[in-house]
Amino acid sequence: MSIVKIAPSLLAADFGNLQRDVEMVNNSDADWHHIDVMDGVFVPNISYGMPVVKAIQKYATKPLDVHLMIVDPDRYIQTFADLGASILTVHYEACTHLHRTLQAIKAAHMKAGVALNPHTPVHLLEDIIQDIDLVCVMSVNPGFGGQSFIENTYQKVQALKALIKKKDTSTLIEIDGGVTSSNAKALTDAGADVLVAGSFVFKSDNPSQTIKELKEIAK
Ligand code: DX5
Ligand code: ZN
Repeated sequence: MSIVKIAPSLLAADFGNLQRDVEMVNNSDADWHHIDVMDGVFVPNISYGMPVVKAIQKYATKPLDVHLMIVDPDRYIQTFADLGASILTVHYEACTHLHRTLQAIKAAHMKAGVALNPHTPVHLLEDIIQDIDLVCVMSVNPGFGGQSFIENTYQKVQALKALIKKKDTSTLIEIDGGVTSSNAKALTDAGADVLVAGSFVFKSDNPSQTIKELKEIAK
């Protein structure tokens, strides 16, 4: 039995009641606050930027898991460190010099994450996995909440788990997109350590209870 981490995605929160929703996460069984930053260039949507992350940080009591869906993320590594990010995840597809980017994230005292788009194969991490604290496997095309889960994710998670074992690293596997109580158990069985859930949590009648149930199911 493994204890899975739950990271509710604030993208699905009610921005008019952001403090309330951050505090709901604080008081729930959730482990991290998942924060999606989109630039309208890397992905076809703009979410929120630094002032909103600062507002989240003001109330959040759990680690900030920041997912950058932006081009040239190197420009903002120190900014997100200053905003209190614990984990900073960049996209494989947005980094020409990924090794350098990961070293810069660690030098800024954050855990370094790499996100893979649905079309990006896991084997591309073969020579960098030992430098990655967390791989975020995108189970939808990044840019929007509320999309349906891509089934091919399971085999990617298995392949990634095998790579992590082969290289004997302690890299965590995070799943992002379309996570619900229907796929949570199969994902952790395949090797997932962290489940991000946006719509499934925040659009439910009782988000705190939904987080608890998700964590229980995914054990
Ligand atoms: C998608 C974001 C996700 C999103 C997940 O680009 O990275 O974190 O908020 O939302 P759901 O859980 O609704 O698919
Ligand atoms: Zn995300």
